[in-house]
Amino acid sequence: MTTSSRPALAFDAFRKADQIASLLVEAQHDVLIVGAGLAGMRAAIEAHDAGADVALISKIHPVRSHSGAAEGGINAALGNASEDDPEKHAYDTVKGSDYLGDQDAIEVLCEEAPADVYQLEHWGAVFSRTEDGRIAQRPFGAAGEPRTAYAADITGHVLVHVLYEQIMKRDLQVYEEFFAWQLVENEGRCQAVISWDLVNGGLKTIGAKTVIIATGGAGRLYQGTTNAYACTGDGMTMALRLGVPLKDMEMMQFHPTTLSPTGVLITEGCRGEGAYLLNAEGERFLKRYAPNAMELASRDVISRAEQTEIDEGRGIDGNVLLDLRHLGAERIIERLHGTRELSMVFAGVDPIHDPIPVRPGAHYHMGGVETDLWGKTSLEGLYAAGEVACVSVHGANRLGGNALMETITYGKRAGKAAAEWALSHTTVTVPESLQADAERELGTLLDRTAGERPHGIRDEMAQTMHENFGVFRREDRMKRQGEIVAGLRERYEGVVVDDKGQIFNNDLTQALELGFLLELAACMVEAGLARKESRGAHARPDDYPERDDKNFLKHTLVSWRDDGPELSWEPVRMTKWQPQERTY
Ligand code: FUM
Repeated sequence: MTTSSRPALAFDAFRKADQIASLLVEAQHDVLIVGAGLAGMRAAIEAHDAGADVALISKIHPVRSHSGAAEGGINAALGNASEDDPEKHAYDTVKGSDYLGDQDAIEVLCEEAPADVYQLEHWGAVFSRTEDGRIAQRPFGAAGEPRTAYAADITGHVLVHVLYEQIMKRDLQVYEEFFAWQLVENEGRCQAVISWDLVNGGLKTIGAKTVIIATGGAGRLYQGTTNAYACTGDGMTMALRLGVPLKDMEMMQFHPTTLSPTGVLITEGCRGEGAYLLNAEGERFLKRYAPNAMELASRDVISRAEQTEIDEGRGIDGNVLLDLRHLGAERIIERLHGTRELSMVFAGVDPIHDPIPVRPGAHYHMGGVETDLWGKTSLEGLYAAGEVACVSVHGANRLGGNALMETITYGKRAGKAAAEWALSHTTVTVPESLQADAERELGTLLDRTAGERPHGIRDEMAQTMHENFGVFRREDRMKRQGEIVAGLRERYEGVVVDDKGQIFNNDLTQALELGFLLELAACMVEAGLARKESRGAHARPDDYPERDDKNFLKHTLVSWRDDGPELSWEPVRMTKWQPQERTY
């Protein structure tokens, strides 16, 4: 069996299945993972090593996953650059989360992080090094210590390749270019995934005793995002449609340094290496917003500071400037070569000689599918890990470098838990009627010959989310956005897919992705309106400018009922840190 392309065995199974109408599933595994970025691959490795038969589904090749776009690094208290320990890491993360992170989940992450990073090193991750050969660590925003291990500024790229090697070494089956569209619940358990086969066309049902969703985030909700085209919230919406609640969906992180107009990420590693943020007057404006931490304050604080400078007329064409010039050519080329290349290619600026124009851009969803500390969701047999999940270690504001760590530590934990459950249960049953229902639903979309094309709706959604649910939130604008999203959802009911073909029908899959995104937008606005305070990424400067621990030290949960979001609340799990004023 090969692993880099679709395995022959699985392909044969599909061909046979086409001829055997009564076959309930076309292939079956103990653990089926949807998404092959870092969380998905780490989960697969752990599940396999626990003895399970494992497969992954991915709409793109694993090494093209969005995890590869992570640049600056991965946080673990290795103590290679200062006195550090997991407790300090946990405290910084709790404070960074504006006290919305669940502290037990944060403690697990920080405790397990060092060993998990050394595991990556032993698998061959080429981390940048200290003079004496240890893993180098750089300062990142709101981290009390230099804690971010890195491979220059291509850390995600390096880790994706390391984990993919481990997938190949274990000969794990990867259903590449399979677009997962529906999770299948039967008898109160998640037991299969229905996917559109991008290469050959047609729906394929793959059964599993446990399913782990690791499909990443939903940055494509916004115009101007660091996220890849693939980040369309698929796993979140698939879970939502089965009644699994989403947690803290109002908490979308804006990264302070993204390139205009695309949103291409310029890593926080630049500021970790000492870069300055300047306004149009050449002033390091952060002295007025975060006088102690300056450019190394938390992302929510810096994004708000930048947006204020821009809104008050001290920006340059809607941007501020990231100045690396004083770092010198040698350091830029050694540690930030990717940044230099991105700046030259996408902005025509060489940071050795000129500052880079940057602005806040949608970057990371702190919210997602609610899970426990082992990635288990409220639906038996369904697990989630990585950005799609909300375990929740990031609360209202994630620290840079903690996302990669979460993919590894919680990917590993979800893989272990899903394998253990699968190995102690034997049956998978998927009624044929479920695939027939899915085929009918897809047929309705494909048979439609007139209607609105999806891209107009998608552009309107992204533009209005940016305008009305961005760095700052205002009651009237959020309400307006709720109405806009409801209108877009109505129009979506009549969209037409022009391409009726089977082979690489991106027209079809982009329409399905838009359906995922619109439901998430509705959930976000619902949660945002209900949170009547300012906390982390959710900033309401006009009506509720302060954090309100008395009334809102709690998570939003959104479930989908009667074709719309329904809100409830859940307390934050605290261990040893009481909320304090948060300054940087
Ligand atoms: O800026 C960055 O390199 C991004 C890192 C992160 O989001 O963790």
